[in-house]
Amino acid sequence: EKDGHDWFMRKEIFEQPRAVADSLLGRRTPEGHLHLDEMRLSDQELRDVDKVIIIACGTSFYAGMVAKYAIEHWTRVPVEVELASEFRYRDPILDYSTLVVAISQSGETADTLQAIRHARTQRSKVLAICNTNGSTIPRESDAVIYTHAGPEIGVASTKGFLTQLVACYLLALYLAQVKGTRYGDEIDEVMHQLEAMPDHIQRVLDDAASIYDMAEAHVDTRSVLFLGRHAGYPVALEGALKLKELAYIHAEGFAAGELKHGPIALVESGLPVLCVVPPAGRDQLRDKMVSGIQEVRARGARTICLVEDGDDHITPYADEIVRLPRVPVLLQPLVAVVPLQLFACQLATLMGHDVDQPRNLAKSVTVE
Ligand code: F6R
Repeated sequence: EKDGHDWFMRKEIFEQPRAVADSLLGRRTPEGHLHLDEMRLSDQELRDVDKVIIIACGTSFYAGMVAKYAIEHWTRVPVEVELASEFRYRDPILDYSTLVVAISQSGETADTLQAIRHARTQRSKVLAICNTNGSTIPRESDAVIYTHAGPEIGVASTKGFLTQLVACYLLALYLAQVKGTRYGDEIDEVMHQLEAMPDHIQRVLDDAASIYDMAEAHVDTRSVLFLGRHAGYPVALEGALKLKELAYIHAEGFAAGELKHGPIALVESGLPVLCVVPPAGRDQLRDKMVSGIQEVRARGARTICLVEDGDDHITPYADEIVRLPRVPVLLQPLVAVVPLQLFACQLATLMGHDVDQPRNLAKSVTVE
């Protein structure tokens, strides 16, 4: 049942190329138009949308952060991302032209469910991104984009997260298509880039052994920082969450630009700092990241850099390098998070923890 793997989580990490491919399947008409099966919101309703609010918890919330970058870039519609547990307590500004997007792998998370119920009382349209057919959140939503990850058994979300990202990109492109934004012409190109992602993810997985070696060298680590910028920032947060929940060690993700505003005080000799480096095509972003890496290294940090293939800028400042396939910056989370999943899974295994059933956690959180 685990296909020869020691954990469901590891099996699910290795299923990601297929899960991503399945989540992309059948989304285009023969004429090349995007078509989303259970969209159920009319083109006019979507054209009227002037604000998107994404609500989710945990890993799904990080998918929402990536979605914000994609939706705003491709559609120019403003997007807020909000933790579901905070949403209804702040009297959010909602009306019929607000599209609320609830991201939930299980479809049963109580915080998220209560948030969409609140949104609907304010006449907002609710779209669910969900992996579980017929679960409560999609049943109570106006529209659904189902991800096709297959059942996720490991408590820590992995293929659930990657397929949520795919659904978020599809939603962003669909909105661009319906609204006729100037990025409408790029839909085809982005779809091709997305369709190439399963092979890229596979290449990262083929290199798992080097990540496992890296984990081996960190079994005595008590604290790890993760840095990222732009779409790499949510990846840093997700990498840190995986390490907390599986290896029970202190891990924190930061937007690299925030370092100098406080967190850099945490850096001391030997502290591992994992850095998600933006693709070289985005030089300004990349160069800023490089200076952040130099800063922490000058203070004794041990830098582990996730860098795209062929980018040798970082080499002088990296104690360890993990190579990523060359992909556009908005899509980079699909490949960059994979080594971080492998790292957390392996470190927890080496530390003797139950990876599939981490202490104190449940697969779906049905209490608020
Ligand atoms: C972390 C993890 C959780 C969930 C969160 C939301 O690995 O799995 O943070 O992402 O509890 O769950 P769903 O997406 O089912 O609403």
